[in-house]
Amino acid sequence: MLRQGVRLSSAIARRATSIDVDALGVATITLDNGKVNMMDRVLMPELIDGVKQCAKDGVKGFIVQSHKPNIFCAGLDIKQLHDKPRDEMEDFWRLLQDSWFTLYNLDQPMVAAVNGAAIAGGCLIACTADRRLMLRNTKGKIGYSAPMLGMVTPTFVMSTFQSIVGNREAELALGTARLYNAEEAHKAGLIDILADNPEELHALARKEVEQMIKIPNQARAITKKLIRVIKPKLKTDSSCLVKIINKVRPDEVYNLAAQSHVQVSFDLAEYTADVDGTGTLRLLDAIRTCGLEKSVRFYQASTSEIVQEVPQSETTPFYPRSPYACAKVYSYWITVNYRESYGIFAVNGILFNHESPRRGYAFVTRKVTRGVAKISLGLQKYISLGNLDSTRDWGHAKDYVEGMWLMLQAEKPTDFVLATGKTISVRTMVEEAFRNINVEIHWKGCGLEEEGIDAETGETRVRVDPKFFRPAEVDALLGDPTKAKKLLGWEAKTSFKDLIKEMVEHDIQMMKENPNA
Ligand code: GDD
Repeated sequence: MLRQGVRLSSAIARRATSIDVDALGVATITLDNGKVNMMDRVLMPELIDGVKQCAKDGVKGFIVQSHKPNIFCAGLDIKQLHDKPRDEMEDFWRLLQDSWFTLYNLDQPMVAAVNGAAIAGGCLIACTADRRLMLRNTKGKIGYSAPMLGMVTPTFVMSTFQSIVGNREAELALGTARLYNAEEAHKAGLIDILADNPEELHALARKEVEQMIKIPNQARAITKKLIRVIKPKLKTDSSCLVKIINKVRPDEVYNLAAQSHVQVSFDLAEYTADVDGTGTLRLLDAIRTCGLEKSVRFYQASTSEIVQEVPQSETTPFYPRSPYACAKVYSYWITVNYRESYGIFAVNGILFNHESPRRGYAFVTRKVTRGVAKISLGLQKYISLGNLDSTRDWGHAKDYVEGMWLMLQAEKPTDFVLATGKTISVRTMVEEAFRNINVEIHWKGCGLEEEGIDAETGETRVRVDPKFFRPAEVDALLGDPTKAKKLLGWEAKTSFKDLIKEMVEHDIQMMKENPNA
């Protein structure tokens, strides 16, 4: 039975923190205690019990807010932890972790309305929310400041923070005790919407939660679980996979999760084999265990790295040149094997390099476009690269995603190459990127001594660093997408020039807004 307009926990109420449920079934948790020290060992379990009770009572969504300016909801009073016996500290962290996970794993949508400062604790809770709103131009800042607090950020919080703002940003924020003001938090993705005043903040939070509860319960809860649970657990926990597949009963599965950096795979060979190789088997097996082999359509992200001759088509013999490619060969064949053995509609997409402004910084195109952006703004002098002579068949990721989808809409399951049919060297890609900031690069020297020079100023803009060379390399990649064109009507639409232009322009804008990005 849904209780409306009542404070569900008197203990919480005593601390001026309430949970009120309205006619729509939205529970508003208002935390109005002192500036810090909301996350104490009495309040935390009470708060969580209240939330669990609401969920049991059929509450459809939550808003977490504070009425007081300058606090969000929870400050973590680190002083409270000083000089405490070890078991008390452990108790505290266990409670914090339990609370965090309870909120993070709620089936119901939760919206956090941040109305002021929230150094560590507020952000702990805000990060568990599905949507985060914040007052614009408050003096308050949010984020984690492990160095400032003199504590190690718990890993369960850290990984969420990383997945929101990215690894590099998280690393910088932690290393430099960086907190974000409202505008910065918005840009980094920690905050989804900014509001101009408390009334607007509340109204927007309300609108957000109402929007989310329109989605049928079952569908919403499943999607949320999928996004939050499947990502970290996907490749290493079979029972978790079976549970999720069984609950979701999907029509299409796209297996894109991988350790996807070729050079990194030389250092993390075993992990790469487990995630990129055996992980695919676990996923295919989960589909079978759930009895879905006749209904699911399965896409396996195979790769051009498994072949060596040029041009490469679906029939080119494999010759993997890295632990990454070896693991992907296994995944390729286990996908074919499950198709042939059990009749699963399972296909391999042998995709050549696909890039976009969302590409990770460690991949060569993004490393170059980000470097060019920094150079153009005077934030960096040169870019260090490895093999300039390798050539890649580079296309735009958005075109390739369409191709993946088309593969699963085909009448029969079969494997496809997606590529542009053109190959371009790293060297030419560098020249093209610099052209977007009106810099002509001339090359001088050779081997490790080679340098890319700004033809006008004579400044060195590219250097070669042996640490970016791989123990073994696929020197040239050039795909033949004829089959995809013929059977799927697919072809790459974005030209190489436009792709690089989009990436450079994006990175210049990004750097202007946040030079640390
Ligand atoms: N990453 C990187 N960093 N690569 C460099 C550098 C550098 O500083 N300097 C030169 N390169 C060369 C690499 O040696 C490689 O020949 C080429 O640039 C492209 O490297 P990446 O961008 O790292 O991509 P990749 O080709 O190894 O692999 C990507 O594409 C595959 C599909 O063809 C990844 O996305 C793989 O996961 C994907 O399977």
